[in-house]
Amino acid sequence: MSRIAYVNGRYVPHNDAMVHVEDRGYQFADGVYEVAAVIGGKLIDEDPHLDRLDRSLRELRIAAPMARPALKVVMREIVRRNRLKTGLVYLQVTRGVARRDHPFPKNATPALVVTAKRLSMPGQKAVEDGVKIITIPDIRWERCDIKTVALLPNVLGKQKARESGAFEAWQVRDGQVTEGTSTNAWIITRDGELVTREASNAILNGITRLTILKLAKQEGLHFSERSFSVEEARLAREAFISSATSFVTPVTQVDDQVIGNGKAGSFTLKLREVYQNYMMSEGATA
Ligand SMILES: Cc1ncc(COP(=O)(O)O)c(C=O)c1O
Repeated sequence: MSRIAYVNGRYVPHNDAMVHVEDRGYQFADGVYEVAAVIGGKLIDEDPHLDRLDRSLRELRIAAPMARPALKVVMREIVRRNRLKTGLVYLQVTRGVARRDHPFPKNATPALVVTAKRLSMPGQKAVEDGVKIITIPDIRWERCDIKTVALLPNVLGKQKARESGAFEAWQVRDGQVTEGTSTNAWIITRDGELVTREASNAILNGITRLTILKLAKQEGLHFSERSFSVEEARLAREAFISSATSFVTPVTQVDDQVIGNGKAGSFTLKLREVYQNYMMSEGATA
């Protein structure tokens, strides 16, 4: 079945989904995006994703392309038309199309694109083997809290990871891990404390991150939102990454250091299960 995309008011075959060459997203990376998981045909954490989209738009002074209820209709329609059961919905808003000039255009209308992508869940062995992480300098700007489409440092970091046989790169600023190139970073210390960096301009406050923290609280787990160094990560008992795309994915190697016994740890696997149960219940009730 062919994929369908939504582009500025029209549902079109994915292959015909085009934006103008003078779209400011293309010219200046002047735009923001969101990615939400779809499980059982239902969007996971839809409102938190739309809250973050509103915040990103506000920070860049881009008008909302449509009111939230209408946007929800479009997102659901994209899920329906693509017969998406397990996958991702991607939405992107740019400042619109205007003659190329740096200042904000006076009369541009924000451009909206919504697309869908299927996702297959990794098998049990892949989950237990975990993934390898490399560490790289964080060369990004000072507003990493805004989910902009300006992702060049993230692209270069991810490519470096892949060329090093790793799945993800943890970016490091002042000796402290900020986050992955498309995921948040977590460790479990030798004392059994779950640690992820506090929300600030230095990281994207992941929706998955926020849900994991909420679930950790509900489960009575000992956690702390604070910075951690590469050294602390190397010495950690367990580590993992989180995102709408990767959920809770165990990390079993950081640079040349094997974490724990080189297999996913029990704390991480438990959290992955708790998170997956949450997604299934969200999917069932949404
Ligand atoms: C830089 C960065 N950090 C963290 C995340 C995780 O965010 P979320 O859990 O909302 O997917 C992403 C997701 O794309 C990201 O790009």
